[in-house]
Amino acid sequence: MKFAERAKQLQPSLTLAISAKARDLQQQGEDVCSLSTGEPDFKTPSFICRAAEEAMEAGHTRYGPAAGLHALREAIAHKLQNENNLTYGPNQVMVSNGAKQALYNLFQVLLDPGDEVIIPAPYWLSYPPMVHLAGGRSVIVPTRQDENHQLGAAALAAAITSRTRLLVLNSPTNPTGTVYPKQALVDLANVLRQHPHVAVVSDEIYEYILYDHNRHVSFGAVAPDLMERTFVVNGFSKNWAMTGWRLGYLAGPRSVLDKAVALQSQSTSNVCSFVQYGGLAALRGSRECVHAMVAAFAQRRRLVLQALESMEHVHGLAPQGAFYAFLNIADTNLDSVVFCERLLVEAGVAIVPGAAFGDDHTVRLSFATDITTLKQGLERLQTFLAGL
Ligand SMILES: Cc1ncc(COP(=O)(O)O)c(C=O)c1O
Repeated sequence: MKFAERAKQLQPSLTLAISAKARDLQQQGEDVCSLSTGEPDFKTPSFICRAAEEAMEAGHTRYGPAAGLHALREAIAHKLQNENNLTYGPNQVMVSNGAKQALYNLFQVLLDPGDEVIIPAPYWLSYPPMVHLAGGRSVIVPTRQDENHQLGAAALAAAITSRTRLLVLNSPTNPTGTVYPKQALVDLANVLRQHPHVAVVSDEIYEYILYDHNRHVSFGAVAPDLMERTFVVNGFSKNWAMTGWRLGYLAGPRSVLDKAVALQSQSTSNVCSFVQYGGLAALRGSRECVHAMVAAFAQRRRLVLQALESMEHVHGLAPQGAFYAFLNIADTNLDSVVFCERLLVEAGVAIVPGAAFGDDHTVRLSFATDITTLKQGLERLQTFLAGL
């Protein structure tokens, strides 16, 4: 069978593939600690599940508006105003099948062949394939560990060309755990002011998962004058432990949003109707459940940081947000795929090679798992490293 040009390079998501491989091995009776997943191990809070069940019972089981349930779009606009200081009306919000589809639709409606998208590395692994599928070209800009993996103003300015269409920002960042402070965003906004042809999309999917004194600042809040070219992507997967619900959203200028909604209406029609009532309950409800999950992540993060102190050959920064430890393995002289394969086969621990995130000297360890598995995985990693 002949494939379309755009499908030729297409590969399944490596993180999903590794988690699936770890699960397969476990099902075959192998003793595997999976520290690879990008999802909270908690159950979705029950008040959210109940809201979706009640919606189903009440008959909200039919097609709905392509842009999403009006009440949910209103609640999202309200949340963006109150929590992020961003002014969007409900008609500037589209509910999507996860943050993933929000990004996918945005790239599809903004990019022409050859248009460039600036992506700071290490990056979430789905950005470049999504850009490619839209015909765009990813311009990967490396960041440095000793600069806390933040994209700096000078690096951004140097990457912009006449073909640049979009900058992708992600804070808190997957996989590095970086949280951009306000000043860093102000500096980036100053660069963008000099380049009116460049828009920005801010992926804020981990916004509540913060440690120590780190605060989440939305890019749009520091640059209200750039709102006409600022997009926000967010969702329910990470913050409310709702990965399987597939519920996210995009907010931005009306004209682009209308196109993204038109694309949705021609492709997936609408997000599952009763699922959206779960999202509505999440937004209207107290954030207590989120705080409890973040407190559990913070405890696990402390465990990881303690364990890392006594590990040989690896080092990394303490994550400021999200639920990943991002480790530099350059001292092992192994590339990241070989490192992860050996760790899985020889020690029974699944983690993700940094090659997937654009940095082959690193690996990503997720601590979104129970304490017993985490402790066992860390002990095995320690033994594996000591034996190298
Ligand atoms: C940075 C980032 N953005 C977006 C997503 C996609 O989230 P969703 O489950 O809402 O599609 C993920 C999921 O891993 C992510 O890490």
